[in-house]
Amino acid sequence: MLENLKPQAADKILMLMQMFREDPRTDKIDLGVGVYKTADGVTPIMRAVKTAEKMLWEVEATKSYTGLAGDPAYGSAMRDLILNGAVENDRVAAAATPGGTGAIRQALELIRLAEPDATVWLSAPTWPNHPSIIRYLGMPMQEYRYFDAASRGVDFDGMMADLKGVKAGDAVLLHGCCHNPTGADLTLDQWKTLVAHLHKTGAVPLIDLAYQGFGDGLEEDAAATRLVVSSLPEVLIAASCSKNFGIYRERTGILLAISESAKGQPVTQGTLAFLNRQNYSFPPDHGARLVTMILDDQDLTADWKTELEEMRLGMLGLREQLASELRQRTNSDRFDFIARHRGMFSRIGASPEQVQLMREKNGIYMVGDSRLNIAGLNAKTVPLLAEAMVAAGV
Ligand code: LMR
Repeated sequence: MLENLKPQAADKILMLMQMFREDPRTDKIDLGVGVYKTADGVTPIMRAVKTAEKMLWEVEATKSYTGLAGDPAYGSAMRDLILNGAVENDRVAAAATPGGTGAIRQALELIRLAEPDATVWLSAPTWPNHPSIIRYLGMPMQEYRYFDAASRGVDFDGMMADLKGVKAGDAVLLHGCCHNPTGADLTLDQWKTLVAHLHKTGAVPLIDLAYQGFGDGLEEDAAATRLVVSSLPEVLIAASCSKNFGIYRERTGILLAISESAKGQPVTQGTLAFLNRQNYSFPPDHGARLVTMILDDQDLTADWKTELEEMRLGMLGLREQLASELRQRTNSDRFDFIARHRGMFSRIGASPEQVQLMREKNGIYMVGDSRLNIAGLNAKTVPLLAEAMVAAGV
């Protein structure tokens, strides 16, 4: 049986991680996978997480199963962090998932169960694992224009023109903030136009919220999601705690599914529990428990927010520095978009050959579509990147 298997195409982000590891150069620079790093290249355990872990070690008395949808306290804490009352709580179903990817996968399975013919609409480009999972599930999918290669901003007219093809019951995958891979986000006014269109068509948004707190701030980054849930009858949200709590390997995510009325919530909640049971039974608990402890404790929340804000401001500072270095070196403002982009990533618009050249010549690793992880830089490596970009003719 196993001899029937064919080699699977490797995920390009994970492949790059491997190449970086194998590169013996000591001055290599990793701008690949979306993992936050300090100026010393360390991905730290956040202070509040460490404190919560110590507390948990003291108080945790059992490792028995939680609920199929995870601990309800985690569901409420995450619901409040993301939605903060933007929609009636009794319309919200919640299930803990293994990371944000788990939430995406469960959301797609939920869509397929409810609407087997639904087309899933994806931004061009999007996180490569989105189309990969959708293809694996055998669901119809379609792309909508998103990134304007000339301005490196959002091609909003193109996006709205393509979304004219959306039908009732289709799902439209949107990045709640910090678009991955481009770094280009919609303005709140553009979100309003988009929401009005989705309302008219009866399509359901699936919001991928993996970077809340990495863009303009915790509340600001949730603003679009809150606008969507307060305007539309049904919304799905797949959120991750990997980045904003820095607990990547704990696989901590959540799927929120908002029904049109409180009457529909119990069946939706039951279906989320059912889907968890089919795929992995109980979701992992450790990361979810730490997040709940932090969000339920004022002091821990304050400490977490302070550290998250430091991380966010650090990334913004690196964006400013890179844009300014490039302004000086090119005597133009054509790279100012880097300072306007938000989150960990910017797509800088280099060709695959230029990306390869920078990797081979300068040991600078970015994804082949020229997505770079801003957090992989520090004050000393920003000029090296700027120099390499100019030398490569970007
Ligand atoms: C990324 O986009 O680099 C991250 O979300 C990590 C991943 O799993 O691809």
